Amino acid sequence: MATADTEQSSKLREQIQQILNSQDQPTVTVLSSLIAVQDAIHYLPDEAIKETATFCASSINDVWSVASFYTNFRFTPPGDKTLDVCWGPSCHLVGAQQILDAVQGVLEINEEGESPDRKVTLKYNTCLGACAQGPVIAINHHLIGKQTAESAADIARGLRGQT
Ligand code: FES
Repeated sequence: MATADTEQSSKLREQIQQILNSQDQPTVTVLSSLIAVQDAIHYLPDEAIKETATFCASSINDVWSVASFYTNFRFTPPGDKTLDVCWGPSCHLVGAQQILDAVQGVLEINEEGESPDRKVTLKYNTCLGACAQGPVIAINHHLIGKQTAESAADIARGLRGQT
């Protein structure tokens, strides 16, 4: 088991090194490097912090302080699909809370995060930019408007393979 973990970690480190070396913007920083890694593998494992420190000639503490400052970085793998529920003012007025309650019930969680089977990551969004279509949700950034608690719950069930 330890050997498999080490092998997996070593592959991950190689993948991260490739990502770091492929940045094509003129100014490469700790922040740009962390963004590049998260864009590619969707989270920042310990290996990302260590490899970014080496790549940027920074300390692990310095990289960690940047990573932990920005709330958009995540340190555990996301679920297979991301379900955003908008709870901005316009959607709130037309039932976002009921949508959120229904979705959380199906996902068996009571805050943002992953369903127990890790098939879905729930995220709250303060405006998905389609207020006239509220209440709005999004699956992997694909917007779906005019939701009801029932339709959103059906979608969440579908994402967990329960339909
Ligand atoms: S407030 Fe929900 S899309 Fe704008």
